[in-house]
Amino acid sequence: MTQRVLVAGATGGVGQLAVARLLAQDYPVRVLTRSAQKAEQMFAGRVELAVGDTRDSSTLSTALQEVAFVICCTGTTAFPSN
Ligand SMILES: NC(=O)c1ccc[n+]([C@@H]2O[C@H](COP(=O)([O-])OP(=O)(O)OC[C@H]3O[C@@H](n4cnc5c(N)ncnc54)[C@H](OP(=O)(O)O)[C@@H]3O)[C@@H](O)[C@H]2O)c1
Repeated sequence: MTQRVLVAGATGGVGQLAVARLLAQDYPVRVLTRSAQKAEQMFAGRVELAVGDTRDSSTLSTALQEVAFVICCTGTTAFPSN
């Protein structure tokens, strides 16, 4: 069984830490992101990208294929955010 991990909110402060820990332990990582451009700049080919939004379930089925674990770091800080 694949041990691939899907990280939602990977471009955020908490999510970046989660991705770094997973990659350091050699987990294959897929990130759920609303902005492929932002995630590509941030992770530079070290992760798979799945474009989606947690508020739109139709975008999640592809992202969840062949994933063993999901880590959800979405949300927002106390600062103004999208
Ligand atoms: N920072 C801390 O020290 C800390 C401590 C304890 C708990 N937390 C909690 O951890 C969570 C994340 O905090 P953070 O500081 O990492 O926040 P952040 O830097 O604002 O990051 C939020 C992340 O969530 C993503 N996101 C937001 N709405 C989304 C949606 N509808 N679909 C997909 N992705 C979405 C954002 O993606 P985009 O790039 O597309 O905007 C971004 O990657 C919050 O609930 C916060 O309260 C944070």
